[in-house]
Amino acid sequence: MTKSFDVAVIGAGPGGYVAAIRCAQLGLNTVCIDEWKNDQGVASLGGTCLNVGCIPSKALLESSENYARAAHKFIDHGIKLEGLSMDVPVMITRKNKIVKAFTGGIAMLFKKNKVTSLHGRGTLFKHEEENSIWKIQVKNGDEIEEIQAEYVIIATGSTPRQLPFISVDNDRILDNSGALAITEVPKRLGVIGAGVIGLEMGSVWRRLGSEVTILEAQSNFLMAADEQIAKEAQKIFTRESGLVIQTGVEIKSIQVEKEQVVVDYADAEAESQKLEVDKLIVAVGRIPNTAGLGTDEMGLSKNERGYIEVDEYCRTNLPKVYAVGDVVRGPMLAHKASEEGVAVAEMIASEKQGHANESVKVNLNIIPWVIYTSPEIAWVGKTEQELKAAGIAYRAGQFPFMANGRARALGETSGFVKVLADADTDRILGVHMIGPYVSEMIAEAVVAMEFAASSEDLARIIHAHPSLSEVLHEAALAVDKRALHI
Ligand code: FAD
Ligand code: NAI
Repeated sequence: MTKSFDVAVIGAGPGGYVAAIRCAQLGLNTVCIDEWKNDQGVASLGGTCLNVGCIPSKALLESSENYARAAHKFIDHGIKLEGLSMDVPVMITRKNKIVKAFTGGIAMLFKKNKVTSLHGRGTLFKHEEENSIWKIQVKNGDEIEEIQAEYVIIATGSTPRQLPFISVDNDRILDNSGALAITEVPKRLGVIGAGVIGLEMGSVWRRLGSEVTILEAQSNFLMAADEQIAKEAQKIFTRESGLVIQTGVEIKSIQVEKEQVVVDYADAEAESQKLEVDKLIVAVGRIPNTAGLGTDEMGLSKNERGYIEVDEYCRTNLPKVYAVGDVVRGPMLAHKASEEGVAVAEMIASEKQGHANESVKVNLNIIPWVIYTSPEIAWVGKTEQELKAAGIAYRAGQFPFMANGRARALGETSGFVKVLADADTDRILGVHMIGPYVSEMIAEAVVAMEFAASSEDLARIIHAHPSLSEVLHEAALAVDKRALHI
């Protein structure tokens, strides 16, 4: 007999698995279908984020940062290390163990919450309007199962964008999966794309000793970030971290030779250049993944860039079909995907009870971004260039980590925090950070903005001393030109 569910979630990344758990918490009979297999060919829940994204990259960033600290910074603390060495396979094994613990953890969470988990590719193939039922095929190799559900949540994520003139082999030409599985430090590493993956992966291998050259098409570095933060980051990454970053380039060809990869490109002055490296990471963005979903046959609307079209409640044009995460508009971030998953689950649960709950939409204007380089970069809300372009009058307050006691004790004094507040109302419009552990500090700014705080609100809140959070406090004071420690 065909198994029947209230909700079928397709995809078990942070959008899908969180949506499935929340649906189950709300009493909905839920199935989550996912096709991911790890490199041993074993089903592995968690999507890009847990398998080849957020979690493994942060594990390697931490290992490589520890190595770099031991090699270059411990000496300042009077700690002398002789014969320091690294064991890259151990780093990779540690990363794999962390991934396994988390992907296995999702299977346990599914069990605990009574979410049915099916492995295979989910394809929508029929809608019975009279019964309000979606029919879905789940294909795992030769095994095919049909299930049905009243509601569908599509959370099929994204895949790496490819360059037309080269294919990824994850040996010499790597995407994010390959970049996370290198077992020997390449002497020369090239990266195409100075975006988030390029910078994080470039940092990992630079810290472990590679000569890293990043080639970026845009003439400005890190265009999504606040300009001042981007300039500071570029300065630190090139002068202190030793990354070579060339912006404004045009890649002409990439050849894989026996011992190396050769990239021919035009530099910012349109001069022909050649880059020879041992391995090349291609990180030029990601594209929404709707392959094999049956969306075209079912008439699901997508925009010209392939994203499934949704309204502010993640509703698609098909009845009772929602879509969340990387496959829809908005930043491609795990926490954005998960919050959309929660919102949609709550919407479906209230709809099933006969009333639409339209208070649960995700606020796309207040989503924190973090880039886990060293120093870290984090922001939420508008950048200065966005405020200028929109003609919004604002006041800015800024404070450096150099003047903070905790940062000095840590020996991590690069960077600053900037608060942007509306010139009339003082409401905080954006907060931008570059410095130590700003991935953790940005949460305070997010809370403040969600509660529509003014810069004065932040300035009047007591912050522990000595702590890095005092830098945000002082930046808020600086909006009113009354920072105390500078
Ligand atoms: P995904 O995580 O991509 O999951 C989609 C799942 O659906 C996959 O398991 C896929 O196999 C499955 N699927 C697809 N089609 C079907 C089908 N037809 N049937 C069954 N299953 C299907 N974001 C952050 O917020 N912080 C970070 O630090 C961060 N680091 C990253 C580092 C890297 C190297 C990369 C590549 C990404 C990183 N991201 C980070 C982005 C983050 O991984 C994504 O935004 C997030 O995973 C999106 O979640 P999702 O649920 O939409 O999709
Ligand atoms: P990205 O969009 O961040 O950066 C891609 C870069 O490649 C851009 O700067 C772009 O101008 C450049 N580029 C594109 N085509 C090029 C070409 N032909 N030649 C040279 N440069 C070219 O994409 P990335 O780094 O692939 O990451 C994808 C997404 O994954 C991110 O946007 C982010 O949403 C997510 N992510 C998030 C992380 C985090 O939150 N810390 C970490 C890693 C990824």
